[in-house]
Amino acid sequence: MQVDYYKVPSPSFVIDEERFRKNLAIIKHVSDESGAEIILAFKGFAMWGVFSILKEYVNGAAASSVHESRLCFEEIGSPAHTYSPVFRTNEFESILKYSSHVTFNSLNQYFKHSGSLLNYPQKISPGLRINPEYSETGYDLYNPCSPGSRLGVTATDLKKNGLPEGTEGLHFHVLFESDSYALEKVLQVVEAKFGMFFPKLKWINMGGGHLITRNDYDIVHLIKILKQFKHKTGLHLILEPGSAFAWETGELVATVEDITENQGIKTAILDVSFTAHMPDCLEMPYKPRILGATDPVPGKPTYRMGGNSCLSGDFVGDWSFDNELKPGDRIVFWDMIHYTMVKTTTFNGVQLPAIGIWTIDGKFRPIREFGYNDYKNRLS
Ligand SMILES: Cc1ncc(COP(=O)(O)O)c(C=O)c1O
Repeated sequence: MQVDYYKVPSPSFVIDEERFRKNLAIIKHVSDESGAEIILAFKGFAMWGVFSILKEYVNGAAASSVHESRLCFEEIGSPAHTYSPVFRTNEFESILKYSSHVTFNSLNQYFKHSGSLLNYPQKISPGLRINPEYSETGYDLYNPCSPGSRLGVTATDLKKNGLPEGTEGLHFHVLFESDSYALEKVLQVVEAKFGMFFPKLKWINMGGGHLITRNDYDIVHLIKILKQFKHKTGLHLILEPGSAFAWETGELVATVEDITENQGIKTAILDVSFTAHMPDCLEMPYKPRILGATDPVPGKPTYRMGGNSCLSGDFVGDWSFDNELKPGDRIVFWDMIHYTMVKTTTFNGVQLPAIGIWTIDGKFRPIREFGYNDYKNRLS
């Protein structure tokens, strides 16, 4: 049932249960058919209030910090696959407590920590992140293989130093909102550069960036290449997408509070902020879709959307609407659940959007509201 945006609080992030379940069913289907384990990368989506639904379909998560691995342990109910560019000694004990797999970013990190991992009473599988120095990502911000990248060990370094004793898996992450054909090319590169180490390993983690739930994703092809790779290498395959889980599952609902006009430019000032609530829009930069609006059309009412922080650049533009906007109108930003929610801040003390779910029976169920203490407690 379609979300009624006037029946949800403003501002709020609203996930649609029906669309969420549809994504989860696709992911489970790929996992069942290919034999690959697919886990959720918390960095992209960690709205644990809906994990009771998630757990009907998947039962693992990829963590990139001790907090994420603990969240996995507590809210998914299983230990995490943890990778971080660096593990600090004072938190490594907790990483071990909450993880089943720990992947190191460098050989230094491996040798620094692997002793405590191998001596730990419960079995934890050690892995190493590799850098295949090949990526199809066009955005430098999201390209782990850009020249001089700090992420992962190159084939040259691994061949020179050898695979550390005890390593059970390799991990690579090079894709960004990619299709299965990009993965196929990456697999060829990884096999050519690192295939000599495969006989010593148990698993390979293909990172994230697999946009399995996008309408045009070729799922049949993905299943085929995963099965082939598994058959050829004998390795257990792990995929850890983040975006794919929450892709197009929900919106950020905002309200027009005021309209300003300067030198012919009209700005609708909202009860949300781009810098605090949708930072990707300014970082990428990325112009989100607004329901009922289009790119500027001459002659139609056209507005910038202005955030409610004092940052001069806290606006994105422009969109055209069928009618003039007025205070009280709802503005609905499409596809604002993955990455957007996990990156919010309380910059300027602006109100954090509430969080809720639009259930399958057409009701809004609030999950979390924020107030003064959420702002205050972060600062002293
Ligand atoms: C190591 C690693 N795994 C998984 C992911 C999830 O990627 P995505 O959300 O694009 O699927 C990322 C994203 O940055 C990542 O760095």
